[in-house]
Amino acid sequence: MADEIILRVTRYRPEQSPLPFHEDFAVPFRNDMMVLDALAYVKDHMDGSLAFRWSCRMGICGSCGASVEGTPRLTCSTFLHEIRKPIVRVGPLGHFPVIKDLVVDMDDFMRKLQQVMPWIIRESEKPLERGEYSQLPEQVELYRQQSLCINCMICYAGCPVYGLEPEFIGPAALALAYRYNVDTRDHGSKERLARLIGRTGLWECTYVGECSVVCPKNVDPAGAIQRLKAPGAIQAIQILLPPILRR
Ligand code: FES
Repeated sequence: MADEIILRVTRYRPEQSPLPFHEDFAVPFRNDMMVLDALAYVKDHMDGSLAFRWSCRMGICGSCGASVEGTPRLTCSTFLHEIRKPIVRVGPLGHFPVIKDLVVDMDDFMRKLQQVMPWIIRESEKPLERGEYSQLPEQVELYRQQSLCINCMICYAGCPVYGLEPEFIGPAALALAYRYNVDTRDHGSKERLARLIGRTGLWECTYVGECSVVCPKNVDPAGAIQRLKAPGAIQAIQILLPPILRR
């Protein structure tokens, strides 16, 4: 590759202009450079006002998601040389309101996470002196894949249903609902499922599968959602049927 690449960044400065615009930055290229490194170079050497999120730089915190050449990705885990283009386009994650440059508003995602109650719910707690709630390896295996989610919101940016129907609870939150529903230490699956079988829940997913394609942690939200549909349907029937039979 050349000694330099052009980073074409989508800028949005609502205090200056109501519309986003593109700005090109010529960045010295190194073979070990990630997209995040190039953004950091721009911020450190060319324009300190460029806004983007990052923290761990190792694919763990989930904060550096952006659209790279039209695909939602973690910028800290995307090599520039993988893209193989002299001009690399970087923009904010799709389907979210943009606050500034590459920084998007996460409030909707946070609200949806809470909605599915992504925590262990118990009918009763045993006293501490009776020890921890141990699990067999095969019980951990039931949810291990979904527990790898880093809440990066990349699956939401990839999901065409969320793009069309913003009220859809969405892939990561539903995958986390699955993760807790199959956890043998949890007793909240009925309550959780009740929140997923409404108009904005499971049935909105048409199994496009793009969430699983773009997920940087191989969580497979699309598969988790499909596996929730059978228990969701049974619970919906249990709720709907009695009033119909009483008529
Ligand atoms: S900076 Fe933490 S995941 Fe990219």
